[in-house]
Amino acid sequence: MIETTVSRFEFEQLGKTCSLVVGAGAVDGLSWLLADPEPPTQILVVHDSHVPAEFIARIQNHCRPHASHMAVESSEQAKTLQTVDAIWHWMAGARFDRHSAIIAVGGGIVSDVAGFAAATYNRGVRFAVIPTTLLSMVDAAIGGKTGINLRLPDGSLAKNLVGSVWVPEAIVADVTALHSLPDRHLRSGLAECIKHALVADHTFAEWIITNRAAILGRDPEILSELVQRSAHVKLNVVVEDPLEHGPRMALNMGHTFAHAIESRHSDRYTHGEAVGIGLVAATAAAVESGLAQPSMLARVRGWLKDVGLPGSLEGANPDVAALTAAMSTDKKRKGGALRLILPREAGGAEFVHGPSLKVVAAGWHAVA
Ligand code: GLY
Repeated sequence: MIETTVSRFEFEQLGKTCSLVVGAGAVDGLSWLLADPEPPTQILVVHDSHVPAEFIARIQNHCRPHASHMAVESSEQAKTLQTVDAIWHWMAGARFDRHSAIIAVGGGIVSDVAGFAAATYNRGVRFAVIPTTLLSMVDAAIGGKTGINLRLPDGSLAKNLVGSVWVPEAIVADVTALHSLPDRHLRSGLAECIKHALVADHTFAEWIITNRAAILGRDPEILSELVQRSAHVKLNVVVEDPLEHGPRMALNMGHTFAHAIESRHSDRYTHGEAVGIGLVAATAAAVESGLAQPSMLARVRGWLKDVGLPGSLEGANPDVAALTAAMSTDKKRKGGALRLILPREAGGAEFVHGPSLKVVAAGWHAVA
């Protein structure tokens, strides 16, 4: 019998508490989680259309009162106001009041859309997430960022341009959901775990490498420890700075490079793969800035290789000038200058505002 662990995070700035439940069979604890302090008046489960019907039925079995469900398409194109509008109208049609709840089941796209509907319907209703990918269990679904993409007049998609921070009251990470997750997506989630190791504790990356066979073999005990450790890194940062005024920016390590990669090569790399390559670039930029030794760059490359993630843009025919230009549209720019989040040799992150061209180039040349 695998133990299910429960941790509580107090968001003092927001006056909210978030329970993190991790383990095989964690969804079976849903009813008591929602009953604290009292059950919601109505529940809508908003789920990825690919989540198996049996998993949704199991969740519904644990919902008091009975929950209805609604499938949404999990694509960046469907992460729009139309989808949120459909959820709002569904809730209004069923006369959901402000003590009702939305439970998001799926990856980061579903929790973003469903979370935004929860944050805005009736000025905010209760919200819980049941992430079904590793990436969403350790990162995308758990930090309270919710939102949608906006189609701009030139036809491009501005990702996450509209949104809000709506912290879930419960995060239920049932690792049995990872059994059917394709290996490529499991590995992609590992890139965010490695990012968390760089942000908080390099020995966590060594632990991942030691246990990689068990992780890829979907050993429930090891997966539970992986999710538990990684989600704790994120939540411990987010609880102190939910609105990203400062320390939370550390969680964007490698992402300025990664977003540029995604803007040019989204057909070739998943988000997690781009983040892995972005972490190599960020480490190379850290070496150039004197924050890390060259041996750290070799170590980070080694971690990615050992879990089967790409550590460079090899084969993608990268255009470094275009990638550098793509960085300038990144959300983390402040006052017109680029901001890089770089790893330090001894652990933790350094925020570099307005990095020199030499530092940026060192990052790109390490992966191009
Ligand atoms: N993925 C970075 C954050 O949630 O802050």
